[in-house]
Amino acid sequence: MISRREFFKYSVLAGTAAVAGAGLAGCGESRGAQASSGAAASESASSVSASAASSASAVSSAASSAASSSTSASATASDSIIVYFSRAGENYSVGVVERGNTAILADMIAERTGADAFEIVPAEAYPGGYEDCCDVALEEQHAGARPAYVGDVDLSAYKTVYLGYPTWWGDLPMCVYTFIESHDWAGKEIRPFNTHEGSGLANTVQTLQSLCSGATVGDGISVRGSVAQNARTEAQSAVDAWL
Ligand SMILES: Cc1cc2nc3c(=O)[nH]c(=O)nc-3n(C[C@H](O)[C@H](O)[C@H](O)COP(=O)(O)O)c2cc1C
Repeated sequence: MISRREFFKYSVLAGTAAVAGAGLAGCGESRGAQASSGAAASESASSVSASAASSASAVSSAASSAASSSTSASATASDSIIVYFSRAGENYSVGVVERGNTAILADMIAERTGADAFEIVPAEAYPGGYEDCCDVALEEQHAGARPAYVGDVDLSAYKTVYLGYPTWWGDLPMCVYTFIESHDWAGKEIRPFNTHEGSGLANTVQTLQSLCSGATVGDGISVRGSVAQNARTEAQSAVDAWL
């Protein structure tokens, strides 16, 4: 089994710099390592979780309406859509959150652009616990799994797809592969947005370029999950600069 510390190597290999919060933190360390890495890390994790929970609930209604708009996305005049995967629950550095880090960026993009939105919701939910989720995600990656997701969206009317995902084990989460491989990308502009805790986008932009035949893949934005969750002004500035 690969240690969470192995996340570090993806940053080194990918050589990517995050737009917000560049630099390597303790992402990927084992629970034991987190506990021993000093009071600052655990203090910041615990001190932010309460505010994260309250501010997450503040955005959830907007987010829900954005997500629910996906069901009628093709009936709107928008030529842009936000497609994203994000996981609430326990995560590295942020504690237990009600709304995932990438979802928060999706909300910001939705607010600024008015784009429709579709959330990739796995048919079988990932574990709520960070460590358990890491294990499942790694097993899926090793198996080349393509986990099913709930519902779908017709992308044919959209020119621009803002595609959001967290970095998982230096790659796209496998359910994002499922979505990508289920759609025709010819002629579309893909704008990747991402949250992470040290690896940035890793090689995901190149992966999108190779998977999404006929699409133009723009520069991605990559924001630390802890920044998206707990430093909203900073995250919003990064999003605005990228848009
Ligand atoms: C299964 C799993 C794997 C992860 N792998 C990485 C990784 O390889 N590199 C990294 O920088 N962060 C990694 N992380 C941290 C997430 O990228 C980060 O917490 C992200 O903001 C989560 O976004 P979300 O809340 O939208 O799901 C991982 C987290 C999980 C749960």
